[in-house]
Amino acid sequence: MYSADEKRYEKMKYSRCGRSGLMLPQVSLGLWHNFGTGGNFDNMQAMCYTAFDNGITHFDLANNYGPVPGAAEENFGRIMEKGMKAYRDEMVIATKAGYDMWPGPYGNRGSKKYLVASLDQSLRRMGLDYVDIYYHHRPDPETPLEETVNALDGIVRSGKALYVGISNYNKEQTAAAKKLFRKLGTPFIINQRSYSILNRAIEEDGLKDYAAAHGIGIITFSPLAQGLLTDRYLNGIPEDSRIRTDGRFLKENAITEDTLTMIRTLREIAAGRDQTLAQMALSWILRDGDITSVLIGASRPSQILDNIGIVNAGPFTKEERNAIETAVGR
Ligand SMILES: NC(=O)c1ccc[n+]([C@@H]2O[C@H](COP(=O)([O-])OP(=O)(O)OC[C@H]3O[C@@H](n4cnc5c(N)ncnc54)[C@H](OP(=O)(O)O)[C@@H]3O)[C@@H](O)[C@H]2O)c1
Repeated sequence: MYSADEKRYEKMKYSRCGRSGLMLPQVSLGLWHNFGTGGNFDNMQAMCYTAFDNGITHFDLANNYGPVPGAAEENFGRIMEKGMKAYRDEMVIATKAGYDMWPGPYGNRGSKKYLVASLDQSLRRMGLDYVDIYYHHRPDPETPLEETVNALDGIVRSGKALYVGISNYNKEQTAAAKKLFRKLGTPFIINQRSYSILNRAIEEDGLKDYAAAHGIGIITFSPLAQGLLTDRYLNGIPEDSRIRTDGRFLKENAITEDTLTMIRTLREIAAGRDQTLAQMALSWILRDGDITSVLIGASRPSQILDNIGIVNAGPFTKEERNAIETAVGR
């Protein structure tokens, strides 16, 4: 039987999510990759235990994570059942709906019909009574935003989610949603967006500043650019890397000589800070306090241990910030 490390809360720092009462760990674990059908269940379980033993209380899922869609929630449900459910009240579990999930017109996008049914399915797969955060996974221009917002509000009132979030919404879409949620009094607390040294979209569309000014939490996915911002690809493409094991999103053509040169330069800057490149990439996201949590993925427990090494990282000097910008051609 799993028994969590008693010192787990000494190993992590927690940040308030927007202006809500909910604290999130500075590092959260996502189950997008490596939790699918045919994956190694013992490794999945070891990753969740390692995360929780180190104060990572927040686990991020979605209806479609797999492959096959639904598999990550099922595997997580097994992990809960086998050892973690005793800690349910110490965990923040999130899931989402918004992408293609089941055939026909009701298994995709942003209708109330889809969002309500999908959460019921997710809860069944995970063996849970409620999730802590339920997200609309992506904006849907074909469904009135009022309907999506009303559906999320009703879901909170039904007790099946405690808080709601949106994902992949830009600044304008976030502002529009916030206005509607506010009218209803919905606990809308977070937007989940991609952000890394290599992807500045939330700076460029103004969301990062807007969210900080308006008390909305931001959790950033793919902070390591799916593994590019690590040592993973410095000496070729390993057989056990994401590109080889599940190249649906990170593809071999991402590894160019220019990219490798940039990664080596970033790695030298990290070494000057006594950090691994992965650690520096994560610390950089948290550098000015605007981001609530970095949402990492992992393929093994050792990566999680490396990544939580950021918890006591020092601030960036002006020179280090500038050197990073120069390395990525900014
Ligand atoms: N809302 C959305 O639309 C959306 C979209 C994408 C992701 N997400 C969420 O964000 C989470 C994280 O995304 P992501 O997996 O792309 O994040 P990521 O942290 O950028 O990439 C994770 C990958 O980086 C490698 N890695 C991690 N730590 C490492 C270390 N210390 N040293 C060397 N390599 C390391 C591993 O690759 P290898 O497998 O090669 O070892 C790992 O699978 C997802 O699980 C999901 O919950 C949300």
